[in-house]
Amino acid sequence: MNLLKSITDQICNLLLSKGINELVDLRVSNIDSCDYQINNLVKYQNHSDINLIKTNISRLLDSSDLIESHNFTENQFLNLRINANSIIQNLENVKNNVLRDNKESVIIDYGGPNIGKPLHVGHLRPLNIGRSIYLTNKIIGNDINSDIHLGDWGMPVAQIITYCELEGISFDELTINMLEEIYPNASKKYSSDNDFKEKSQETNKKLSSGEKEVFSNWKKISELTLTSLKETLLILNHDFDYWWGESSVNDLIPDMLQNLENEGKIEKDDGAFISSQITDPRILITKSDGSYLYITTDLATALLRNKQISHEKVLYVTDNRQKLHFEQLFESLSFFDFPSKEYEHVGFGTINDSNGNPLKTRDGGNLKLVDLYEQAYNYIQEINSTLSETDLHCLTNTVLTYSDLLTNRKTDYKFDLEKFTSVSGKTGIYVQYAQVRAKKLIETLSEQKPTLQIPSTPLGPLDRKLIIALANIEFHLELSLKNNEPHHLANYLYDISNAFNTFYQDSNIKKIDDDAERNQKIFITSLFIEYSHLVMSCLGITPVEKM
Ligand code: ARG
Repeated sequence: MNLLKSITDQICNLLLSKGINELVDLRVSNIDSCDYQINNLVKYQNHSDINLIKTNISRLLDSSDLIESHNFTENQFLNLRINANSIIQNLENVKNNVLRDNKESVIIDYGGPNIGKPLHVGHLRPLNIGRSIYLTNKIIGNDINSDIHLGDWGMPVAQIITYCELEGISFDELTINMLEEIYPNASKKYSSDNDFKEKSQETNKKLSSGEKEVFSNWKKISELTLTSLKETLLILNHDFDYWWGESSVNDLIPDMLQNLENEGKIEKDDGAFISSQITDPRILITKSDGSYLYITTDLATALLRNKQISHEKVLYVTDNRQKLHFEQLFESLSFFDFPSKEYEHVGFGTINDSNGNPLKTRDGGNLKLVDLYEQAYNYIQEINSTLSETDLHCLTNTVLTYSDLLTNRKTDYKFDLEKFTSVSGKTGIYVQYAQVRAKKLIETLSEQKPTLQIPSTPLGPLDRKLIIALANIEFHLELSLKNNEPHHLANYLYDISNAFNTFYQDSNIKKIDDDAERNQKIFITSLFIEYSHLVMSCLGITPVEKM
């Protein structure tokens, strides 16, 4: 933790002088009377110098302004209580404080919609989780690029093209609504009608080899999908640095396969290419008819990204069911000696209805994201009819984002609009309300953020609680980054909002006569606004103006 880094560094040196070489691990304590805990000494209970080490640490802590008190438990856990009055001065400029010294360059691959299909509820989690990981990385200063990796190539598109050709549907007159109907029909026909299947395979070959007419029809379909996709993404406040897709790597695949074959990394097996790596089962690289698989394009995509975007790490955000695909991809990338990067699959669970089944429309179809947005919008409007369109829009996105990020990404959760829009409890509405309240207070007192008077007025227990909660931001950021888990920050946002609300209700700030005391409360309130907004921006939530 940066805030207490000077202290942890000094403890580290003290330990080193007694032959103990390790990083000092500071954790948030769950004991009421203390704030942090250091566990390093537990395993050195029988160290010959343990008493001397403790005396030296005590001397150091006693002389520090930042520490109010400390104690060692019988097992040598070290408990620390912070001097909130002195720490408050270090809490300003949170945006600078969270910047990292060691920057990483990262690519995040998320969203991944497929051509011919509208964005549906299954895209909500990858979009929210991906955006939050992206923004959090940006905020701490990492160099991160997002790529949507469209599923815009291969068999599904070939089926659509073949279907249109057979049904005499003009590619110039296609609309997105037509396309959304064509896709499921074509895919049904593909599995039941052999003739259609063969024709589609034929089309797919022509597409891969860039045959002019098929390619130009593909282009029309792809542009149509992309336009509609961008419209929906705009409503939901998403954008990408790269809009590449499977189609972007088609040209790279023949050479890639040729090289791998020459190097003995892949071999023919019944017409298909399989990886020469001995795994169980063996990894299939192309199909027996020579057509490409999901893994073929993902391998080539790694090559394209290597050429075009400088990076050390790649994150793939897809649902848990694709775990095996990514295991095989990462195995193969390493076996094929592709430039070595850190690869990680960021998996997530499903969104279910109240019965625990995946959320669908009433008639069992895929629930479109625009429809889900509209449902939530209307619901919030009913509860609060005085909100402006802009604020309603903002709150709708807050609800769809916050409730989604609150659960650990690996677990499924139940979609419950009533619960998610409640004004109390862990909801997007609650956290927005807290920051609106804080802004309003500052506005009505028409004060700018005052400078802190030193020495400051003694802090009450609720002031203290809020300040310590704000100071803890680094822990939650750290956890969220380390595990690519936005829920740590989503829960933290609730914690600070809750701490602020209790502080606010208790203080009656408007009625405080003493200037110094009032200023201090306003100072703390503005700190809360800064922190709440920073966490919101990590989550992809825009602070609402009025509620
Ligand atoms: N289009 C894929 C799907 O619908 C997701 C793509 C994820 N990214 C990747 N590089 N494979 O499941």
